[in-house]
Amino acid sequence: MKTLLLEGEVFSGKGEGTEFIKLPWVRKQIKEKLGFTPYLGTLNIRLTERSVILKNLLKNAQGIEITPAEGFHRGVCFKAYLMGLECAVVIPEVQDYPENTLEVVAPTKLREHLKLKDGSIIEIKVLLKK
Ligand code: CDP
Repeated sequence: MKTLLLEGEVFSGKGEGTEFIKLPWVRKQIKEKLGFTPYLGTLNIRLTERSVILKNLLKNAQGIEITPAEGFHRGVCFKAYLMGLECAVVIPEVQDYPENTLEVVAPTKLREHLKLKDGSIIEIKVLLKK
């Protein structure tokens, strides 16, 4: 299996991740399609310039689709590993979504598990199907 290695730093958002992950249709599909119950929230990563270019390659890759409820946007996920821990990256198909932002969902609170704070530099290995 091919992988894509992305790098960036942890930053805080405005709590939108929690609101999104709380949605029942999101939770259900993450459980069914990714195989874990997500911790309430998303860990935000600000990607390096090089990683932004790599992330754009994901547009042509086969991801795991989160089918939206009416009035919401579609999202595409990829399984990933953050410092060895199983997780997934979620790419919302929202217009004007910042291209240097990556959101990570995981079964546990990554900040606690991996002792991350704002500014921590991380590497995430994204799994590609082919
Ligand atoms: O406020 P923000 O948008 O940054 O975060 P959130 O999506 O509301 O998530 C709540 C908090 O949990 C934030 O500090 C996230 O970075 C953190 N988080 C985490 O450590 N591990 C996860 N799997 C998900 C969120």
